[in-house]
Parts: sequence; structure tokens; C-alpha cells
Amino acid sequence: MSLPGAPFLTRAGGELRFDGHSLADLGRRFGTPLYVYSRRAMRAAFDAYERALAGRPHLVCYAMKANSSLAVLQTFAQAGAGFDIVSGGELTRVLAAGGRADRVVFSGVGKTRAEMRQALLAGVRCFNVESEPELETLNAVALELGRVAPVSLRVNPDVDAGTHPYISTGLKGNKFGVAHADAVATYRRAASLPGLRVAGIDCHIGSQITQIGPYLDALDRLLDLVEAVEAAGIPIHHVDVGGGLGITYTDEQPPPAADMVRALLARLDARGHGHREVLFEPGRSLVGNAGVLVTEVLVLKPGETKNFCIVDAAMNDLVRPAMYEAWMAIEPCVARAEPPITWDVVGPICESGDWLGRERVLALQPGDRLAILSAGAYGMTMASNYNTRPRAAEVMVDGDAVHLIRERERVETLFADERLV
Ligand code: LLP
Repeated sequence: MSLPGAPFLTRAGGELRFDGHSLADLGRRFGTPLYVYSRRAMRAAFDAYERALAGRPHLVCYAMKANSSLAVLQTFAQAGAGFDIVSGGELTRVLAAGGRADRVVFSGVGKTRAEMRQALLAGVRCFNVESEPELETLNAVALELGRVAPVSLRVNPDVDAGTHPYISTGLKGNKFGVAHADAVATYRRAASLPGLRVAGIDCHIGSQITQIGPYLDALDRLLDLVEAVEAAGIPIHHVDVGGGLGITYTDEQPPPAADMVRALLARLDARGHGHREVLFEPGRSLVGNAGVLVTEVLVLKPGETKNFCIVDAAMNDLVRPAMYEAWMAIEPCVARAEPPITWDVVGPICESGDWLGRERVLALQPGDRLAILSAGAYGMTMASNYNTRPRAAEVMVDGDAVHLIRERERVETLFADERLV
């Protein structure tokens, strides 16, 4: 079976390499835990969307919550991406990395007035608004500034994305979006407010989606609304279908991005909406398999009922297993010839929930380095300092080049803003 992350991630002569670079060597050189990203893998993932959209008015807005390290943002900005942001912090960050405000869409169910002000002054492309009260507030903030806010309504299409409940967002029971049934009235309200300009419609039905069907269902629901809203005399320029395309962590077989895009374009055409600008907000599918987390085996604790392999990475570095019981592949950076045994790979944090992989069959010795695969998305961005653990360093490989893109955090900086009484 090929590795998640292939063709950039390969094993040859027992050695795991990322875009040609030995992960064991990188771990030795920069220390562990260490995130390693392949710039070429990120570009390839982005190009797949771009190629499928060639000749169409479109904008691929990278959902930067997946991985917002400056060099990652710079990579996508240079490739011509737009960005999907969810906070003023993300806006500041993406502008610092060279992203363009007029390619930014601002999502999120709870924007503060300060964030609205910041985004209006920066000149973001669109606010993805999630409720009528948010429309009213945004209108007031825009009028105060003498600006007009471009808006899209995030509609909750009430379709089941068939994914983990924590990351499923398009069902009626979720906190997200304007209910489908209320959308036309909310558009009328938006169109009547002088500080707002209706620009588009959007949805986002969930994450780690592995089928095209839910996307088509959601698009149909959006297009029904576009037709109803335009019939009410309110033009809608773009259709933003959100993000959510899954990746392979183990044996999932999500459609390639190009297939998903083509199916959506075909549906737009079939319904007479082929002229419309279409926006995507992919996060995970652009970066997930473009990153790995390298960690070192600290202690082996074989036991009566379980064998524990304690590594120097922990739930603070990569929370997905602890938080979602996510399964992420774990591979030795250098394969051993000895017969493997079954280990629970866990971190050093004082919580039983601090695990990275359960029941993994591995041949290991202390000091070995392991790579946790598919860690490019929702890894570093969800990292914390629990147990006063400095966050990991990050390296980006790009062909022959190796760039340290984030220094390992220093303990002193963790409490630099704190005060004794
Ligand atoms: N657009 C909006 C409005 C979103 O809320 C999200 C993700 C995306 C786009 C990008 O979705 P993606 O293409 O990455 O699936 N921490 C979880 C995933 C949370 C996703 C939240 N929203 C995880 O580690 O699985």
C-alpha cells in the first residue's frame, strides 16, 4: 500500500524520505518534535484545484485554520490563492505573509466589531455572514467607517456530510449558518441595509468528506436559493461551496480534488449557472498530506496488557487523536529488521488521553525516530503549551532546499507576558 503523502513521501532502502529528504536526518539536525512540510506537495495540491478550474471565474481560498504558519501562507499567496479566515488574528497573519486582502473571505459565526472594523479597513473581498444580528452589526460598523461591506450569507443547507459529528457543520442541529428556510428573507434584509452589498452565497458542510454526493446536494440547495433570491431582484455574484474535502489517513478514498471540482462545475452548467464565479475554501486537502510530525522514542514500557512507546511529541503538539480519536499513520523513519510488536504510542503529558496512535505494530528501540503522517493540517495550528511544553519547530523542504520556518519555541517566551503579583 502506498503511504499517505505519496508521491512526496517515500520509503527507499528502509529510509523514510519527504520530497527526497531523510526524515531521520531532519529530526537529528533540528531536534524533535519537528513538523516537516513539503512545499512542492502543497503546490501540487493547490494546482490540482487550479487546473480543474482553468477557464472558469474562480478563487480558491485556502482555509488557513488548517495550517497558518507564515511560510505556508506565503507558499499559497505566491501561487495566487485567496484565503478563508476566521479571526482578526488570521487576517493580520495572512497580510504579514504577503496575502492580498481583496482575496480574503471572512468566515466565522462570531465576529467581533473590532474584527469587522479591521477587515473593512483592510478591504477584504467578502464577509461570510452567519446570522441576521451579524448583518445588522456589520452594517452599523460599515456605516461608522463610511464603507460598504461585501457580504455573502452562509446558508445551512441541511445535508449530512457523513463525517465525524465534531466536524460536521451543515446539519440543522449545528450552530453554523442561516437556516435554508430563512435565507431569502435574510437576503432581503441584507439588500435593504445601506452599509452592505450582497456579493455571494456560501456554505460549508463539514470536514474530511470522502464523497462527492453531499457536495452536489449542498450545491443544489444553494442554487435553489440563488434562483429565489435573484427572482426577488437581488443579484448574487459568486457561489462559495466551502471546504471539507477529505484526505487519506489510512484507507479512506476521497475523490481527487479535480473530480470533486469537475462534478460541481458540471452541476452548475446543468442548472444554467456556469457563468458564475465559484469559490472554494479547502484547508485539509491542501496541506494535510504535505506535512508530517517527527518524534523520538524516549522510553519503551512493555506491560502485562499493553506495551507503551513513550515519545517526545504529545497531545499538545498534535491533538487530533486525543480530541477526535483520529487515526494517523505512524511510520519509523528508519525501518528495523527485528520482528515488530504492538505498541500504544503515547506522549509524556500527565493525561491518559495523551495518545498519538493505539495498537500500532512497530519494531522500535529507544532513540528511534517516528513520523506521524498526514499531520500538515490541524497539527501545529491546534498545538498548545499544556504542561509548559514549548511548541515544535517547523521545517519546510522545497526541492534541495531545507528552510527552518519556525524556531522551536523557548520556555521563557511562554511566560514572558505573565506577571507575579
Ligand atoms: N471553511 C469553513 C467555513 C470552515 O469552517 C472550514 C473548517 C473550512 C473551510 C476548511 O475545511 P477543510 O477543507 O479543512 O476540511 N480540527 C478538525 C477540522 C475542523 C474544520 C473546521 N472548519 C480536524 O482536525 O479534523
